[in-house]
Amino acid sequence: MLIRRETAKEKFMDLLLLADEQESVIETYLDRGELYALYDDGELRAVSVVTDEGDGVFELQNIAVRTSSQRRGYGKKMVEHILGEYSGKGRQMIVGTGDSPVTVPFYESCGFKFQRRVKNYIAEHYDHPIFENGVRLLDKVFLAKSLE
Ligand SMILES: CC(C)(COP(=O)(O)OP(=O)(O)OC[C@H]1O[C@@H](n2cnc3c(N)ncnc32)[C@H](O)[C@@H]1OP(=O)(O)O)[C@@H](O)C(=O)NCCC(=O)NCCS
Repeated sequence: MLIRRETAKEKFMDLLLLADEQESVIETYLDRGELYALYDDGELRAVSVVTDEGDGVFELQNIAVRTSSQRRGYGKKMVEHILGEYSGKGRQMIVGTGDSPVTVPFYESCGFKFQRRVKNYIAEHYDHPIFENGVRLLDKVFLAKSLE
């Protein structure tokens, strides 16, 4: 397994869209973010983008594991790698996600703790309703993990 930083970030748009389904939203963080790609058996399995939000805060903006490679530990490996990369370089890593029964337990399993909820953020910032497992996502939930 290999995880490396990539500079040709646009090449990964298809996979990034799995986690964040509106390209105009991805473009708000892709240029200023660091993109990490995870390869196993020579195949791309996962991508993630991290931004520097200033004041010692980094944000995991996007993480997507190919549908056929999900639930095999790649997502967790990617988060562990990123936490290692930024450990000691700031105060905390935060992540904002839809209030979903898939992503919140995933981040909790990676050691993140609930920080705050922004009511109706997803409903107001996307140009179409976002559904996951048939449930409409409305609020954005922020979780955080210390980097100190
Ligand atoms: C969310 C996502 C990144 C998780 O990656 P993954 O490689 O499938 O997850 P892992 O195999 O590393 O799972 C680690 C743990 O997270 C939790 N988890 C992962 N997927 C889950 C699911 N569908 N339901 C509930 N818990 C889940 C489990 O605790 C899991 O441990 P376990 O398999 O031993 O039970 C992946 O499903 C994905 O890319 N989804 C689509 C895009 C997306 O929603 N990205 C997040 C946007 S904020």
